[in-house]
Amino acid sequence: MDKILIKGGKPLKGDVAVSGAKNAALPVLAATLLGPGEHRISNIPKLMDVATIKRLLNHLGAVISDHGPDGWTVRVPDLSRCEAPYELVKTMRASVLVLGPLAARFGEARVSLPGGCAIGARPINLHLMGLEKMGAEIKIEHGYVSVKAKRLKGARIYLDMPSVTGTENLMMAATLAEGVTVIENAAREPEVADLAQFLIQCGAKITGAGTDAITIDGVESLNGSAAHRIMPDRIEAGTYLAAAAITGGDILVRGCNPRHLDAVALKLREIGVEIREEPEGLRATARDRVRAVDIKTLPYPGFPTDMQAQIMALMTLSNGLSVITETVFENRFSHVAELRRMGADIQIESRNAIIKGVRRLSGAPVMASDLRASASLVLAGLAAEGETEISRVYHLDRGYEGIERKFSNLGGEITRIGQTS
Ligand code: EPZ
Repeated sequence: MDKILIKGGKPLKGDVAVSGAKNAALPVLAATLLGPGEHRISNIPKLMDVATIKRLLNHLGAVISDHGPDGWTVRVPDLSRCEAPYELVKTMRASVLVLGPLAARFGEARVSLPGGCAIGARPINLHLMGLEKMGAEIKIEHGYVSVKAKRLKGARIYLDMPSVTGTENLMMAATLAEGVTVIENAAREPEVADLAQFLIQCGAKITGAGTDAITIDGVESLNGSAAHRIMPDRIEAGTYLAAAAITGGDILVRGCNPRHLDAVALKLREIGVEIREEPEGLRATARDRVRAVDIKTLPYPGFPTDMQAQIMALMTLSNGLSVITETVFENRFSHVAELRRMGADIQIESRNAIIKGVRRLSGAPVMASDLRASASLVLAGLAAEGETEISRVYHLDRGYEGIERKFSNLGGEITRIGQTS
């Protein structure tokens, strides 16, 4: 398995272009199952998770051609099967996003239950509750969930947690339902609005995407062909802004949408980082030592849980005491033990991490455990004195396109070493 070697201590300077958003590309690609149109989808990031959903779509009968910089054409003329097997789903929970489209277009779906992951149990009860309200018959057996419905019916669905993929799955399913569906307490993440834009190009009738109430007026079929550019990755962008802050550098993050980063920019400004909107994107310029601030993760538009590990790396070098409260996932502190190995002073009390800033971190061999925890270790390694070796970097490859290339271009001493074993 590959490792990443970092020699820290250098301020990162320059500019970096963000890639397309992983969490927008995955639902948009799943949505191609809903209709026979031929879609041109561009700005798809080159990530492990995207390769996984491509394999899954091919398995289901999609015809995909990759035109490199011009993106992909995807069409699903008909389905060769309606089952998402365990060996594919176990590597990526977001495979559950094919459930809604398959049930809506083909009346049945059989998807392996995703199982938990490093950050939590990750149940899909809200996805299933919504489909049940739309008249689907749900069965869970042998580790698979089966959904059957002659034709889904419009329903009023209240989500007691604004689940992102739950909202996306139900919005996709509702596009072909008979009648109107209203999803209340829907997730407001920009990726939901990006997916809605794609669906509307295919012929769906959706209003309210991006707000907490989404109305979908079901149609007989979605024959439209979409030409869609995946939105920029706001979490990748936030990670590079945090990199400028933690290394005392100055980075222009090109191509990001500043509106998607309001909560992150606000926190970084509180921390003492200068964040400026420029025509090409957002620039982060570190000033003095970072200030200790408290952070609570919340559903969008609150501070994103996907930036919690990265901002914690920053807080390990602050001038005081900060408390980070993780309200979205029950077990998203796996980076803490690794940061401690680098000299960080962090205590965990239930969903709170109490971080006492130290003067410096020291490089050490550490292990990645989930996508964003890995990013946090890269940031800490870039700031630490000496050498950091990060193992299990396949976690990073799931969500960060060309991370060592991008950081090297910013002056970081970071290389990937393949393992012989
Ligand atoms: C999406 O995951 C993202 N993944 C996650 O990004 C992100 O961390 C998360 O939203 C929160 O923003 C994709 O979009 C592919 P949720 P998702 O359903 O949809 C509970 C990354 O790093 N819940 O919004 O799985 C759940 O346990 C990944 O890119 C239920 O209880 O998250 C959690 O506590 C990690 N029942 C909370 O809701 C359900 O049926 C939010 O989960 C669904 C969710």
